[in-house]
Amino acid sequence: MVNYKELGLVNTKEMFAKALKGGYAVPAFNFNNLEQLQAIVTAAATEKSPVILQVSKGARNYANGTILRYLGMAAVEYAKELGWEKPQIVLHLDHGDSFELCKDCIDNGFSSVMIDGSHLPYEENVALTKKVCDYAHQFDVTVEGELGVLAGVEDEVSADHHTYTNPEEVVDFATRTGCDSLAISIGTSHGAYKFTPEQCTRNAEGKLVPPPLAFDVLEGVMKKFEKQGGFPIVLHGSSSVPEEYVEMCNTYGGKLPNAIGIPESELTKASKSAVCKINIDSDSRLAFTGAVRKHFAEHPDHFDPRQYCGDARKEMIKMYTHKIVNVLGSKGKAE
Ligand code: G3H
Ligand code: 13P
Ligand code: ZN
Repeated sequence: MVNYKELGLVNTKEMFAKALKGGYAVPAFNFNNLEQLQAIVTAAATEKSPVILQVSKGARNYANGTILRYLGMAAVEYAKELGWEKPQIVLHLDHGDSFELCKDCIDNGFSSVMIDGSHLPYEENVALTKKVCDYAHQFDVTVEGELGVLAGVEDEVSADHHTYTNPEEVVDFATRTGCDSLAISIGTSHGAYKFTPEQCTRNAEGKLVPPPLAFDVLEGVMKKFEKQGGFPIVLHGSSSVPEEYVEMCNTYGGKLPNAIGIPESELTKASKSAVCKINIDSDSRLAFTGAVRKHFAEHPDHFDPRQYCGDARKEMIKMYTHKIVNVLGSKGKAE
């Protein structure tokens, strides 16, 4: 058993309490490899932003769970080396799909886990989430639950369309499970194609404009938690799919037609509410891929991964820094 506290990691409890009060959101960035981890830690340490490092089941399958865990553990030491005296870093399991997987992460240094029972019937979701909470809380590990279904693909759980979170269920769910934060569905979805062109309108320049998020559902959820002084809400599927990176990919041989994400203005608005954690993965994939494609196009003779992965890392640092400073408002919240 490795407890996260021995590694200098923190859970989300105090982090979310501060974000809730302070009107900003903590970035939760997924990582699958060394360069993504280095870029996330560099951006967070430079900007003194609390940060959540997320490992999905897919990431574990790709990079090996043990390797990712050790990379996550290394994050704290690297952050200190970069001059961040008291790093506020969470190592989080993203979309845990079973008690056993959550337990394995809790027993091996994770400070936070998500149990995603959103696809289950309500009572089964409650029972599974409670089981994970009961185990996790013995070790001071925090737990994220989910109510409502996002459109698109949630790891191996797929949903063709959204089922927005029902505000009538949230207090009952949080009370009976004991979860520390709640992911809700208000129109975000995973991946780089969050809306079909048919769901969008076009602006004067002919660019796709997505429909707005269901802020009324978020407000409904927040209202229900008012009596208890608020509750940390999580938004998944919150990449904004920057045009700059889609264009970079497409200019240098890629084919990502009609890729579209959540406008940054909506994420900033959400950050100022009870939304304390905003999940971003696809934007990192786009920045990485765009930079690598550009590098190969400009340097066809290069074959050292440090050359093109170095460019990708630089681009990702820029992107993560932008999210922290200009979108989520978490800069300087972990001095
Ligand atoms: O929620 C989905 C995340 O973007 C993780 O995706 O399962 O492909 O690693 P992944
Ligand atoms: P994006 O695909 O929008 O980056 O969402 C990531 C996510 O929700 C991870 O859990
Ligand atoms: Zn997600």
